[in-house]
Amino acid sequence: MSKRGLFITVEGGEGVGKSTNMAFLESLLRDSGIDLLVTREPGGTRLGEDLRELLLQVREEPVSPSAELLLIFAARAQHIEECIEPALAAGRWVLCDRFTDATYAYQSGGRGIDAATVRKLENLVQGSLRPDCTLLLDAPVSVGMSRARGRGELDRFEREEVDFFERVRATYLQLAEEGSGRYRVIDASQPLEVVQGQLLKVCRELLRCREKGVQ
Ligand code: TMP
Repeated sequence: MSKRGLFITVEGGEGVGKSTNMAFLESLLRDSGIDLLVTREPGGTRLGEDLRELLLQVREEPVSPSAELLLIFAARAQHIEECIEPALAAGRWVLCDRFTDATYAYQSGGRGIDAATVRKLENLVQGSLRPDCTLLLDAPVSVGMSRARGRGELDRFEREEVDFFERVRATYLQLAEEGSGRYRVIDASQPLEVVQGQLLKVCRELLRCREKGVQ
């Protein structure tokens, strides 16, 4: 039986360079011979991508924070069962653009849902599944928002106010500070080559762990 794969997540507010750096991480890992599943949340399955569309679309009626939270966990339940868990069990590594840290940051920090409620759903939907390593790309909200706004049409989340994103950022940083050793916080306001140099270091660390068999 193959050894279980590593579960790596990439997190951060809007416009912190997640897409560029996800692509960089993907090529680093693939070039190192890792059998990799690259995926995202909300999404990653057909049902999840349909739910993503519902979640991101700008709607006339205000969306209840609880409805939003449950749709996110519905997408996550399908994603775990259909993709993430089978890949990890088969020894593949999973690189996921956002996961439950985003729910603490956006739905709890941003929308004000009690973190204990998120924790209950996390336990219910994920059982013991948690990322092995989380890369948090951190940048001041003003930097991220101006990058995101330069991309054109804004989705339902991107239309939130600065205060919302300040709470999202503060929650992410708090999770990294109080959480287990799985977080690596990277200052994403630095030049791209500096950010990617740091990502390279983290990847090397993970690959060394694999060689030593200390996953
Ligand atoms: P993305 O465009 O960065 O992939 O993410 C889509 C949006 O979904 C982003 O604004 C953050 C939001 N989101 C949440 O609010 N909670 C979550 O748990 C996840 C995974 C994403």
